[in-house]
Parts: sequence; C-alpha cells; structure tokens
Amino acid sequence: MDLGLTGNGVLIVGGAKGIGHAIAQEFANEGADVVLADIDPAVQESAVLMNASANGTITSVVLDATDYNAVQALAEDINSYTEKLNHLVYAAGVGSNKFGFPFWEMDPSDWPFVLEVNLMGAVNVAHAFASQMQQCGQGSILFIASIAAQMGSQTDPPYSAAKAAIVNFMQVVAKDFAPYNVRANAISPGMIQTTLNKSVWAAWNERQSDTDKRSYEDWAGEKISSICPLGRWQKPEDIGRMATFLASQAAGNVTGQTVNVDGGIIMHS
Ligand SMILES: NC(=O)c1ccc[n+]([C@@H]2O[C@H](COP(=O)([O-])OP(=O)(O)OC[C@H]3O[C@@H](n4cnc5c(N)ncnc54)[C@H](O)[C@@H]3O)[C@@H](O)[C@H]2O)c1
Repeated sequence: MDLGLTGNGVLIVGGAKGIGHAIAQEFANEGADVVLADIDPAVQESAVLMNASANGTITSVVLDATDYNAVQALAEDINSYTEKLNHLVYAAGVGSNKFGFPFWEMDPSDWPFVLEVNLMGAVNVAHAFASQMQQCGQGSILFIASIAAQMGSQTDPPYSAAKAAIVNFMQVVAKDFAPYNVRANAISPGMIQTTLNKSVWAAWNERQSDTDKRSYEDWAGEKISSICPLGRWQKPEDIGRMATFLASQAAGNVTGQTVNVDGGIIMHS
C-alpha cells in the first residue's frame, strides 16, 4: 500500500528485533529512510539483512535509550543517518523477568530498571528530539505501550505501571506538538511471540509446581483462548502495519490515541 511515506525519515528505537524490527520493515516497504537504534549490537546485522528489500536507506546505531547523553548525541548527529526526520518510534522494552503476582512477591528494587527502559527511555527520546520534531513540518511520534497499561495487569506490576505512564505522557506529547503539525499516538499490542513475551512465560513457569508447569505454547494457547475474542496470537507485522498507517496522512486527524492491536482483548464501551 502506498501510504505516502516515501522519502520520509524514521528513527526506530528498539528496532533490532521483535515488534520494533517489524515496524522498521513496514516503513522500509513504504520507501522510508529507516534508522534502527538498539542497545543490542545485533541491530547492525538486522539493518544489513533488511537492506535487500528496502526502497529507502537503512542505517543502524547502537544506543542505550536510558543514557540521555547518548540519545542527545544521536539527535545532534541524526542527519548523518537520514537527510530528514519525520517520525519517531519508541519500541524498546523490557519486563522485570519476575512473576509479580501478588505484587509483594517482588521487591521495590525490581522497579527502577523496568521504569528506566520502558518509560525514561521514551522520555529521553522525546526530549532529545523535540527541536528536530518542531522543525520537521509534518510528522509523528509513536510509543509502543501494552494492553497491560489499561487493566492493572498483575503479571508484572512495574511493567504495567510504566506502560500506563507512557500512555499518559503520549497525550502530553500529542498536545504540545499539535501546533507543529506533529501527531503522537500509542499502540498497545496484545500477545506477540517475541523474546520479551517468552520471558513473561518463563517467569510465570518458574513459580509453578511441577504439575502446573506448561510449555510456552500451552501457556500462551490457554491464555489466548481465555482472554482473546479472536482467539489468536497477534503478529509483529500487525503492529508494523498500524504503525505506518498512524504515521501516514491517512491518519492525519488521529492524535493522542492509544490503538489496541490485540484481537479484542481490551474493549472499552
Ligand atoms: N510481545 C508482546 O506480546 C508485547 C505485548 C505488549 C507490548 N509489547 C511491547 O512491544 C515493544 C517491543 O517488545 P518486543 O515484544 O518486540 O520485545 P523484544 O525483546 O523482541 O524487543 C525489544 C527490543 O528493545 C531493545 N531494548 C531493550 N532495552 C533497550 C535500551 N535500553 N535501549 C535501546 N533498546 C533497548 C532490545 O534489545 C530489543 O531489541 C516493547 O515496548 C514491549 O513492551 C510487547
């Protein structure tokens, strides 16, 4: 589909793998110039492998989004990666790797790292690129949140709280950038087979008795059939397609919104 993104520049933080990588591929398919940033050095290989199918340019940079100085340095140097920057995507994320139900099974010391990556990394990116986005003329900012933000999910309390905070901050970003014709939105994925999703299962499984332990597939299958009306996994490319739609002028009047791509797990009346 031609969404009119050819020649647009996009920075995707958390683009080495999983959902961020699928978003990058969708932008590349649309002919955008894509900059992949990730703490994982494998981001460089990810970018090289993508080049084959790309219409625009694809570059990569190793970046720890929790390091504000490093994010600022990238903002100052962004034009050596892409001629112009129209879109920011924050898809980096981590879980605590602990099963948090009930919450007192965790310790307050389990919280800061999860908040640093899921919330402060996004805040760092928004701050560091604020002046470029004010000047870009027409653009968008996308935060990958989670359905956990909207339902007090007991699985990983610091993760849910960080995602709820990012949805709230996204609305502030949307209001502050609106006069500059820059829109901000969030996507809340449901359940997608990625490293992060598997770590949630691993933390759960570790806490079960031998008889209650499940394989990843069985655990996910039971969960999906009980909570997801469409009864199936979401796929990384489902999020990629929604991301490019939200970045495009087809969504030119959509800002400050959280779009659930979750097979219907969350339904608000
Ligand atoms: N997989 C799911 O079911 C699901 C559901 C809801 C929300 N999400 C969200 O989707 C986003 C992508 O997660 P995913 O499932 O693709 O996981 P993933 O582990 O496959 O990808 C996350 C990426 O973030 C990167 N990252 C982690 N810390 C970073 C840092 N400090 N700086 C830069 N990059 C960093 C990782 O290296 C990795 O490449 C996350 O925000 C996650 O919370 C995922």
